[in-house]
Amino acid sequence: MNTLGILFIGDIIGKPGLDMLRTWMPPLLNKYKPDLVIVNGENAADGKGCTDKEGEVIFGLGAHVITGGNHTWDRPQSQDYLKSKANVLRPQNYPRGTHGTGHCIVETKSGKKVAVMNLQGRTFMASIDCPFRASEWVISRVKQETNIIFVDFHAEATAEKTALAHFLDGKVSVVVGTHTHVQTADERILPNGTAFITDVGMTGPYESVIGMKTVAAVNRFLYQTPQKYETAQNDVHLCGFYSKVDTETGKSVFIERILLPEFEKQRHDQ
Ligand SMILES: [Fe+2]
Ligand SMILES: [Fe+2]
Repeated sequence: MNTLGILFIGDIIGKPGLDMLRTWMPPLLNKYKPDLVIVNGENAADGKGCTDKEGEVIFGLGAHVITGGNHTWDRPQSQDYLKSKANVLRPQNYPRGTHGTGHCIVETKSGKKVAVMNLQGRTFMASIDCPFRASEWVISRVKQETNIIFVDFHAEATAEKTALAHFLDGKVSVVVGTHTHVQTADERILPNGTAFITDVGMTGPYESVIGMKTVAAVNRFLYQTPQKYETAQNDVHLCGFYSKVDTETGKSVFIERILLPEFEKQRHDQ
């Protein structure tokens, strides 16, 4: 069986996340020898989007595609970067006319084509177009060229992510969830061969509230008013997901969830 390895790295949070990527990308590339590397960069520019500056770092470390999300729009330079690079994606299902693109086809070194699709959920998020129907449209466009399709579904609600994964089971190779910044332990290959994890988790500081300094985050909930967020710095971890896909069928045959370094186990029995 011929297989193709895809390494995905979860939301890079500012400089701490980029530094973590610098540290761990070489050993990850050495371990998995992936054919394709995809990185979610929606928070790379200090939490707000991904400009050419961060994009160069991420591509320079071996990424082939950068995916986005709701924070892609936070910084004008990040929007400009979208316009200039075909392999820097924003969610496909933003209304027609929004700049940038939500999918691309990449050719690996071995000459295999892989389609990468970025979608965004609508539950507790902006009421954009339907991600389910957008995914069907992208599949209809790319399926002439490849049956290896990777989906980054940037969404808040567990149920919406699980529903989309089942909707796409057997139609795409991998569905990874992003956006919550907290890794879930439910990775599995669905009955028809689609690999799925509800959320890959973030590559960023965990002494924080999902990557941001805790005081402002707590005050937002206490006072229900906007607060000035700052990227936190400490206890940085990298979250990722590796999948191996059968190049004949486009189905996933092996998956591994990545958390580096692992959290220290706390003992409660002393
Ligand atoms: Fe994020
Ligand atoms: Fe997000």
